[in-house]
Amino acid sequence: MICISIEGTAHTFAVSVMNENGEIFADIRDMYKTERGGIIPVEAAQHHKDVRERIIKEAIEKSKQKKFDLVAYSMSPGLPPTLKVVLETAKDLAKDLSCDIIGVNHSVSHLTHGKFLTGAKDPIYVYCSGANTQIISLDGKKFRIMGEASSIALGNALDKFGREIGLGFPPGPKVEELAKNGKYVELPYTIKGMDVEFSGIVTKTIELYKKGISKEDLCFSIQETFFSMLTEVVERALAHTGKDEVLLIGGVAANKRLCDMLNKMCNARNAKFYAVPKEHSGDNANMIGYQGVMEYKAGRSMDIKKADIKPYARVDEIGVFW
Ligand code: ATP
Ligand code: FE2
Repeated sequence: MICISIEGTAHTFAVSVMNENGEIFADIRDMYKTERGGIIPVEAAQHHKDVRERIIKEAIEKSKQKKFDLVAYSMSPGLPPTLKVVLETAKDLAKDLSCDIIGVNHSVSHLTHGKFLTGAKDPIYVYCSGANTQIISLDGKKFRIMGEASSIALGNALDKFGREIGLGFPPGPKVEELAKNGKYVELPYTIKGMDVEFSGIVTKTIELYKKGISKEDLCFSIQETFFSMLTEVVERALAHTGKDEVLLIGGVAANKRLCDMLNKMCNARNAKFYAVPKEHSGDNANMIGYQGVMEYKAGRSMDIKKADIKPYARVDEIGVFW
């Protein structure tokens, strides 16, 4: 069985081709970038429209596949304008290739594909991307969000801070780079129950930057503070559930310092730490294809006329039937 999949919930438009075993034949991506502010949804949607034909063509050619059985697309959650482009593209592609269509949840796809890639069995998922920071545990047939960021998510918080102090694009990785030469300055540490709050800390670091504290010291301190807060909550999730694995997924999983901190905490508790490999941590279509194939094989089908988008669906709304 051959699946062609489309990702486009936010900044990245990506197309992959894989078989039912998760073996990838093509993985083509193109990212919409902004130098100054955050993502502008209609601009990202225009980007996706501009690149889609080329990306699909490249993916099909690279895959060397002639016959396709399934089109999987990211139907939720995401920016409504970009999700609409994905839906329209997926429907056209399913008609052109005469195959079935299936829409999947992007966040769930990060979780299941991360588990597949790392071999984790029943971990506490630490989902840290631009738009999401969630500590998730599978409880029976439902994903349960045990804790999350109460205002902005970890990736966006690092990006906002990086932009404000003029680090250029992409800010997240640049913060990690500069942090290597910084020393600690005290910042607020805000955990409420199992939730973490990053936005007040971003405001405080920007204030300190204006007072003359160096970029390096602020990058180091914001990372140490954010990652310690997160590690504390993940440790409590392990203790509460009795699970003994942690799986870090989402774009921020590329950060070595975050991996290092979570790994040390896991070692101290005799738990095992996994992080999704860097080439799969950011948004991509491999995970969409993987999830689509799994749901399709488990018997889910979708009428192309009823194919839609669900911009606000969270992981705890998706029942696990695969
Ligand atoms: P989702 O829709 O799942 O929330 P997303 O579109 O927001 O996903 P991803 O592609 O999963 O995002 O991740 C992008 C985020 O990862 C950005 O905020 C980026 O700054 C951050 N990031 C990438 N590399 C690093 C790094 N080395 N250190 C810190 N943050 C990083
Ligand atoms: Fe993502």
